Amino acid sequence: MTVTLRRATAADVPYLVRLLQGPDVAPFLAAVRPSTAEALNAEIERSERDPEAYGVLVSELAGEAVGTVTWERVNSRSRIASIGGFAVDPRVRGRGVGIEMALALHRHLLRERGFHRIQMEIYGFNERAIAHAERVGWIREGVRRKAYLRDGTWVDGVLFGLVQEDLDEAESPG
Ligand SMILES: CC(C)(COP(=O)(O)OP(=O)(O)OC[C@H]1O[C@@H](n2cnc3c(N)ncnc32)[C@H](O)[C@@H]1OP(=O)(O)O)[C@@H](O)C(=O)NCCC(=O)NCCS
Repeated sequence: MTVTLRRATAADVPYLVRLLQGPDVAPFLAAVRPSTAEALNAEIERSERDPEAYGVLVSELAGEAVGTVTWERVNSRSRIASIGGFAVDPRVRGRGVGIEMALALHRHLLRERGFHRIQMEIYGFNERAIAHAERVGWIREGVRRKAYLRDGTWVDGVLFGLVQEDLDEAESPG
């Protein structure tokens, strides 16, 4: 199985709207994450206009879109990127597609793009995503307690980071 990543284009918008607004994705992503066609078009335009600083990506399996993720450069001097909106299509979950997609993303950002550190935050209630993150090498770095109001309840944000050395170590033989 090979999962590849490419930059999203305007042609992906209908797929991304369906995926991001779906009941298996929307409750798990940040409430402020864009998911309307208009907002996604604006994000994709920004990703095309400023490819060194921002990316809206689509993952593919056998030529078919199976997920999405975004990244944003948040610190140029220290080469840090934040990851957001990581989502695997519910049709292909539980098969390791998310694992392949995450590893491709880590290599792309930490090797090809030369970021030193990537980081992301997952809601504390999102046990599946937390297990997935730990499975693909993210290091848990802390918790923002009761940071976000979701459906009338304060929920934690769990902070994850991954630096170039973590990836080197994970990929070194033996
Ligand atoms: C979080 C998310 C990306 C995880 O994807 P996933 O497919 O559920 O899980 P993974 O990619 O880690 O794949 C591992 C699963 O595949 C199974 N699997 C089956 N065949 C496999 C194979 N050949 N290789 C590896 N794993 C395999 C594993 O047993 C595991 O299943 P389990 O979680 O039931 O134990 C996905 O659930 C999702 O998109 N959720 C909604 C959005 C979200 O929460 N995003 C994160 C916010 S930051």
